[in-house]
Amino acid sequence: MATLLQIDSSGLSEASITRRLSAHYAEKWKEAHPNGKITYRNLTETNVPFATEALIFAMNTPPDKLTAAQKLLLSLPDELMKELLEADTYVIGAPMYNFSIPAILKAYIDAIVRPGLTFSFEGGRPQGLLKNKKLIVLTASGGDYSEQPMKSMDFLEPYLRGVFGFIGITDITFVKAHGNDPETKATTEASAKAAIDQLFQAVTA
Ligand SMILES: Cc1cc2nc3c(=O)[nH]c(=O)nc-3n(C[C@H](O)[C@H](O)[C@H](O)COP(=O)(O)O)c2cc1C
Repeated sequence: MATLLQIDSSGLSEASITRRLSAHYAEKWKEAHPNGKITYRNLTETNVPFATEALIFAMNTPPDKLTAAQKLLLSLPDELMKELLEADTYVIGAPMYNFSIPAILKAYIDAIVRPGLTFSFEGGRPQGLLKNKKLIVLTASGGDYSEQPMKSMDFLEPYLRGVFGFIGITDITFVKAHGNDPETKATTEASAKAAIDQLFQAVTA
């Protein structure tokens, strides 16, 4: 079954542009896949654990050697992993925070980039284990990072392309909105929604 994993990470709720964009994407996706399944993950309501010593050790322990305490520690990361493996398309609402991603999204990434599950070093070289997956990143920022000199301050796009590429996801599309004033925000959000609509027209054309 076609499955979409929709992830939001903005600290804002109704006022968030990326949340509205991811909701718009999910709506379009549902129209295109009436029998598909959407899993929604709101990271601001998910207590994703940080990469503490206990969690790192647990993540690197073979499943049959895990203690009861380690199993408990891994329960949420394991749930996130299950959602990730099940879905074939991911849409992530990722606002720019201090030139990169929100800390909760980084914690999520630290929970799902896991040896033996999403990457391996078999043959001495890193290999992404996720195959045939598609990622759409919907981002919003105050400034416009499309041109230099601002472009070199955008660590969000290169980072997300790099880390998701590392686990095997290479089909990645970015749709962006920006603005520090209501007019620019509204115009670029409308353009971003039109760009999302275009993605579905391209699929069904
Ligand atoms: C903690 C924080 C850090 C931010 N850092 C940046 C930044 O580095 N560059 C930028 O252009 N905008 C920055 N912004 C503005 C947001 O990217 C912008 O408000 C965007 O619309 C947030 O997405 P959202 O509307 O989905 O919450 C920051 C906002 C917050 C709350």
